[in-house]
Amino acid sequence: MPRIDSETVAKILDAADIVEVVSDFVHLQRRGANYIGLCPFHNERTPSFSVSKSKGICKCFSCGKGGSAVNFIMMHEQMSYNEALRYLAKKYNIEIVEKELTQEEREQETERESLLAVNEYALQHFKHNLTETTEGRNIGLAYFRQRGINDEMIERFNLGYAIDKRDEMLSDAISKGYKEKYLLKTGLVGKTEKGDYYDRFRGRVIYPVSSISGKIVAFGGRVLRSDKAGGKYVNSPESEIYRKSYELYGLYQAKSAIVKHNKCILVEGYMDVISMHQSGIENVVASSGTSLTEGQIRLIHRFTENITVIYDADPAGIKASLRGIDMILAEGMNVKVLQLPAGDDPDSFSQSHSSTEVEEYLESHEIDFIKFKINILLDGVGNDPIKRANVVAAIVRSIAVIPAEISRVAYIKECSFTLGFDEKILANEVAKIRSQILEQEYKRKKSEEARHIKDEQAKEENLQDETASQELIDAVTPGSALVNEILKKDRSQQLKSFEKSILRYAIKYGMGDFKYSTDKDGNAVFCKVIDFLQVTMQQENLRFSNLKYQKIFDEVVLMHEAWSKDRQKFEIQALNRRNEMWVDGETQIRNEAQTLDEITRRENELKAKCDEYYIKLMQDYDFNYVERRLTSSQDDDLRNISTELVTEKYQLSKIHTKYARVPEERDMLSELLPRAIYELENEILELDIKDLNDKIKAECANSTPDFGIVEEYISQIKNMQTLKMQFARHMGDRVVTPTSRR
Ligand code: UTP
Ligand code: MN
Repeated sequence: MPRIDSETVAKILDAADIVEVVSDFVHLQRRGANYIGLCPFHNERTPSFSVSKSKGICKCFSCGKGGSAVNFIMMHEQMSYNEALRYLAKKYNIEIVEKELTQEEREQETERESLLAVNEYALQHFKHNLTETTEGRNIGLAYFRQRGINDEMIERFNLGYAIDKRDEMLSDAISKGYKEKYLLKTGLVGKTEKGDYYDRFRGRVIYPVSSISGKIVAFGGRVLRSDKAGGKYVNSPESEIYRKSYELYGLYQAKSAIVKHNKCILVEGYMDVISMHQSGIENVVASSGTSLTEGQIRLIHRFTENITVIYDADPAGIKASLRGIDMILAEGMNVKVLQLPAGDDPDSFSQSHSSTEVEEYLESHEIDFIKFKINILLDGVGNDPIKRANVVAAIVRSIAVIPAEISRVAYIKECSFTLGFDEKILANEVAKIRSQILEQEYKRKKSEEARHIKDEQAKEENLQDETASQELIDAVTPGSALVNEILKKDRSQQLKSFEKSILRYAIKYGMGDFKYSTDKDGNAVFCKVIDFLQVTMQQENLRFSNLKYQKIFDEVVLMHEAWSKDRQKFEIQALNRRNEMWVDGETQIRNEAQTLDEITRRENELKAKCDEYYIKLMQDYDFNYVERRLTSSQDDDLRNISTELVTEKYQLSKIHTKYARVPEERDMLSELLPRAIYELENEILELDIKDLNDKIKAECANSTPDFGIVEEYISQIKNMQTLKMQFARHMGDRVVTPTSRR
């Protein structure tokens, strides 16, 4: 999907009203300054999902999920950042300007994007062929008509036709500037052993395969004449953009219906999906002839827990797919199975019945998978005890993979009844297999976790890759790289809450002005929150030990330029709004005022009110600017960490509670900001002093302590303590030195 121009992004983010966006999915009620409703991310009876209109943020105080409007849409609709922006643009009728690419940039485009671009071209080309060429109409369109597919479905599924000529598309694509390389990689074009190129799909009707977000990642082409050699379908090969086992045909078109009905129907083929859609059943996807994979099941699980698998009546096919169903059970999903009347597949069945008939049939013929499996496996087994035991073993295996105990117990009961086996024996068997499964799972998770933690450390702290034995040798050497890393990490952990509070101020109030001091005439001197923090930290030679925090802080500093540009635009809006207020007020005065004096007096009042309104608008804009941008940032770290910081319920420190009345944080920044810096410095000094004390202890524990060094340490400690006192004094009376922390 092409990237969106940054100005459009800003427009979208500005327009998105969190209350309106959330209201499309959650019933909200006003509660003071905020709105509240039932959390859409978990099941609850009493509302804990809170939405702040002024902050542009929502948050569940029970499960913790939430964020900006973009974040909300990303989570709720399972969309990418880009898709969520497009969703909001559509909601607010904002025209999307895509990022203009220069020739140079176009060449730099990643392979992925090039492949998608080629596929997008091919899609349009195939669609055009189908309706706008004589061959396409006479052959391709005629075929779809004959199979009963209407125009709406042709459009929804982007059906097309490939002209029956060796290089019709190839030469057209090349002439339009698409590279041979990408045509080959997407498989749109093939190459013979002799080195000749040919259109892979020529003479076939085309079923494009969309990714979950609607990008065209592959094509299927069906032959029209049965005398042709080769398979009925030709499909795109796997490529950078197409991993067969992670795509499901029709999911893009089906996903909202799947959520709505909280059920996904699984069929086998392209035509099954399309015909079912046409008869009004839209929560249908196809595994496209291959057996279902874990990746595909996970994909469905993002939208629902319930799957109904439809089979043709062909028993061989059914047996082959039983294993796939065990995987669905293992995902903790509920599986039902539906058999169509002999000789029918979903396509023929929905073409030969009315929509209501199809719906009714589905409703009344679904059966639970385990029961279904028992029936299938018992078929033809008779009374042969060994065969029966095998069936039991197979069923037990299916039951054992189900994560929920309550379901397992129910199935064991059911099977004991149907199979005539003792319930206890079955339960024992299930437990045995279950523990094997859990053990495997545990091992897999452990090794995955170990890998993950290692990755994280390597990323976060630039830890060099070292062999295990080297690490061991290092670990026992004081001052070694590894020991230092561990200490650094420990320290970073201790400083975290202090760094967090500084970063939180930067994000929450970034471009806002606070009263920094007073000049000699007693006038207030203002300073931007981010400027104060940046300059003070620089002066004090402070950096965040948490690298992600530093990255975010740097990002806020860099926002200055964008802010001043955006602010100019907002200023015009604010002036207009002030003016509207003025005009309304004026009209009212003119209608109501009796005397000239009254007019003058009321006009003066009105002017003051308008000015105040304007100043408030601008102030709020400045104060909220950073938070608004960061909580809608494309960068996952920036977005997640800043969302977490600003939505965290602010812990009132002991210092705060000393005041009888708790004033608004925003009005106290002139005290809070220096204090936050001071507290961090203080903590660093305390840690340094503790380190020195440890060193002294270690030295004294030596059989021959070097008292020269010990004295040196002691004088360093004294210096630090003096420094601490100075800090405290520098902060003035306002600082109440916290006596105990942590
Ligand atoms: P079907 O043979 O059931 O195809 O294969 P269909 O979709 O119902 O097509 P019609 O009704 O004959 O037109 C099911 C799926 O298996 C894959 C395709 O994805 C097809 O939709 N398949 C089948 C292939 O990839 N290649 C083949 O040669 C056959
Ligand atoms: Mn078919």
